Amino acid sequence: MSTQPVNVATQKLPDMRYERHAGVPRQTDVSKALAHAAHPVLGNSSSEPVNVNEFEELARLALPNMYYDYYAGGAEDEHTLRENMQAFHRITIRPRVLVDVSQVDMSTTILGYPISAPILVAPTAAHKLAIPEGELATARAAAAAKTIMVLSYSSSCSIEEVASSCNAVRFFQLYIFKRRDISALLAQRAERHGYKAIVLTADTPRLGRREADIKNKMIYPPEKNLEGLISINIQCVDQGSKLETFANQMMDASLRWEDIRWLRSITSLPILIKGILTHEDATRAVEAGVDGIIVSNHGARQLDFSPAPVSVLEEVVDAVKGKVPVLLDGGVRRGTDVFKALALGAQAVLIGRPVLFGLAAKGEGGVRTVLEMLKNELETSMALAGCPCIKDITRSHVRTEHDRLPSML
Ligand SMILES: Cc1cc2nc3c(=O)[nH]c(=O)nc-3n(C[C@H](O)[C@H](O)[C@H](O)COP(=O)(O)O)c2cc1C
Repeated sequence: MSTQPVNVATQKLPDMRYERHAGVPRQTDVSKALAHAAHPVLGNSSSEPVNVNEFEELARLALPNMYYDYYAGGAEDEHTLRENMQAFHRITIRPRVLVDVSQVDMSTTILGYPISAPILVAPTAAHKLAIPEGELATARAAAAAKTIMVLSYSSSCSIEEVASSCNAVRFFQLYIFKRRDISALLAQRAERHGYKAIVLTADTPRLGRREADIKNKMIYPPEKNLEGLISINIQCVDQGSKLETFANQMMDASLRWEDIRWLRSITSLPILIKGILTHEDATRAVEAGVDGIIVSNHGARQLDFSPAPVSVLEEVVDAVKGKVPVLLDGGVRRGTDVFKALALGAQAVLIGRPVLFGLAAKGEGGVRTVLEMLKNELETSMALAGCPCIKDITRSHVRTEHDRLPSML
């Protein structure tokens, strides 16, 4: 067992990630990979991905295993990881015909900010593991798609760099640390640099057990946003990823609902709370005065066997009673998934891994394509389901397992 102290802030990444940036992917047979990832019956004769799922295989080929596993992995047995997608598959769409869908309008607003479609970029860490430009490329792609990017606190480009890279609407994701002064500074830097909301991630009192990272002894890049604020020497032990040790030292596991008041006192930005999965917590969030709720299980990276967000969305929406907007993330891979989430009451969805896979596979253009694909699919779903506008998508357009229960009894 190694007991060498590791300075996470200054640690160097292994050189392997630069292999592909010099134009040498780890495995070069990309068309073979696509054929493998393509339609199970038809195959795919084109070398370009035709849906968001196909980007995952390209990303797997482009990235060192350690980074692919970090992006793709979930907690423990990854039951929830699979369930996040499968729960969407169990919902069917009830289309209406003979509706004028010659024009389909996907535009909507979030907290009053107009966006081209209800699909946002979720906060995900460390985009420089995918390409050297990191979040700058993601931010530009989000701006091109006329949507909102939520920048992770753990971004590999700083709050300031991303702010000056494009003038799209941006939100900032925050954790509340034991060192409250650091969380306050980060929120205030985001506010000063034009971010329009704080997304408080509430499901991370400690890090979930991501076993691939533990096995890989995942080497995590320096926390760019903490530069100059903190230098943490952590004991590196052979068990566990270094990220887990670092996060568990930083997070304030004693955080309670009362602390939302503290967050309110240090920022005038609207606060969205991310990581709500029950009606009890949704009610408390509204009572605590948040401005929006994100139904999320952190992309199945925290508590395995927590429910798929889409399976509890309605419970949350019912508890909130329209007082604040409800958004959802987790497992959204198709336009039909977006449609289903909207029908169950979400105002918009966020996507995490598809953005990372697009970025790793094809840089900024890959993220643009991922967002465009989802938008195109949503537009088609709306047309085929007889919904010319977002507000036309209603609860009666979907059938859930819950709806089917009475007929099964
Ligand atoms: C590699 C990775 C890093 C993430 N980092 C963060 C983070 O820094 N903060 C956060 O609130 N959520 C983080 N998330 C969770 C996402 O915001 C989001 O909840 C999740 O990715 C949605 O699921 P999806 O990947 O199936 O779209 C991360 C997710 C992934 C896959």
